[in-house]
Amino acid sequence: MLDKRGFDLWADGYDKDVEITDEKDTYPFAGYREILGSIYETVMKRPGSAVLDIGFGTGTLSAKLYENGCTIYGQDFSEKMIETASAKMPGAHLYQGDFSQGLVGPLRKQNYDFIVATYSLHHLNDEWKAAFLNELLDFLKEDGMILIGDVAFRTRAELNACREEAGDEWDEEEVYFVVDELKEIFPDLSFTPYSYCAGILSLTENRSEERPL
Ligand SMILES: C[S@@+](CC[C@H](N)C(=O)[O-])C[C@H]1O[C@@H](n2cnc3c(N)ncnc32)[C@H](O)[C@@H]1O
Repeated sequence: MLDKRGFDLWADGYDKDVEITDEKDTYPFAGYREILGSIYETVMKRPGSAVLDIGFGTGTLSAKLYENGCTIYGQDFSEKMIETASAKMPGAHLYQGDFSQGLVGPLRKQNYDFIVATYSLHHLNDEWKAAFLNELLDFLKEDGMILIGDVAFRTRAELNACREEAGDEWDEEEVYFVVDELKEIFPDLSFTPYSYCAGILSLTENRSEERPL
């Protein structure tokens, strides 16, 4: 699993690396551009939204939303990623912090129309993912939505088939979403696949029902 320092070192080459595997339509970034584009379209249906980006990286998604009138908040633990993203969106509220420890204090002071996380939450194991998503749901505005774009599969059998095909390329340290399993905790979770190995998961706060944790 890459740590803070690993992401600092990857920051300069990150956009290019992603572009190459997206264009080749291979694991892990097959579908990346389409996924970010679709999340962008969804958010822009509510102009001027307050958007929290978890693990914003070089700011590929949030900078575009920023340029188009959204107020951007974000948390990432890599100084170099923060530096790169801040240069693209000087007025954004970007904070350094490890999301395995939850949201940093300043980001807990408001609620958001959208909380987005693209290719970042696979750095948490399944138990921590569920706990963090539960925490994030409490920071949504009414009608707010969590949108996760990531390596994801409907079933564990689909994940295993992809692992087999990827061979040595498969990253054993990353923990990818298996939608059917996460649905046991979040029954309202919805999933749209964008490639054979990735898609968008969306979640809204269902205030009328207790979540079975
Ligand atoms: C693969 S990049 C994705 C960046 C961007 N969201 C995108 O879609 O291109 C993952 C990002 O999450 C950040 N990250 C990974 N684990 C983290 C953690 N535990 N706490 C905070 N940020 C983390 C990394 O620094 C990096 O910027």
